[in-house]
Amino acid sequence: FCGMYFSQTILTWYHQNKRDLPWRTTQDPYVIWLSEIILQQTRVNQGISYFYTFLENYPTIRDFANAPEDDILRHWQGLGYYSRARNMTKAAQKVMSDFQGVFPTNYQELIKLPGIGEYTAAAISSFSANEPNAVLDGNVSRVLSRYFGIKEAINSTAGKKLFQRMAQEVLPQENAGIFNQAIMEFGALQCKPQSPNCDRCPLKTDCYAFQNKEIHLLPSKLKA
Ligand code: ADE
Repeated sequence: FCGMYFSQTILTWYHQNKRDLPWRTTQDPYVIWLSEIILQQTRVNQGISYFYTFLENYPTIRDFANAPEDDILRHWQGLGYYSRARNMTKAAQKVMSDFQGVFPTNYQELIKLPGIGEYTAAAISSFSANEPNAVLDGNVSRVLSRYFGIKEAINSTAGKKLFQRMAQEVLPQENAGIFNQAIMEFGALQCKPQSPNCDRCPLKTDCYAFQNKEIHLLPSKLKA
């Protein structure tokens, strides 16, 4: 299959429709890490004020690592899933001890840090260093499943592998960071879970789900 048209269309759409979000103007891996951990189980609109609070209180990884965990947890109040904040203090200490306070941008190093899994390692390495690692989240798998007509469940083991491979396949190697942002934004704003904006979608003529009236059937999911 050819993903070139798909990827180029998503990139063009992104340049015309993206939100101005505060973490999109930096390539500092520490700042990107802060934003991505906050956004893991938090909506963008709610995450923004927390992002600013953390940056003001802890402008660098050194500030973050030196802070008492109680202070971090206090600033985290309202975000829930406190294991995220606890893992962040562990990760910060590891960056100080193992990387002399230089936050890594490399996937293989990132994934060893507490609280950083495949998604977050791909996000930080691509946004900060343009490393060609595809991000896969709910937005990305929904877009891929609908456009290419993939019926494998997005939450099955086989499905996750398949969608990860496809995400990697459509990722433009020279534009990995921007494209990762673009396909997530496309899923969040255009190819939404409920009532996606198909009438005004630049991909509708080639979208499997739209052409076959299967938007409501895709992505398919195994019940928990
Ligand atoms: N959700 C997770 N990461 C995001 C990002 N970088 N921009 C917008 N929403 C996100």
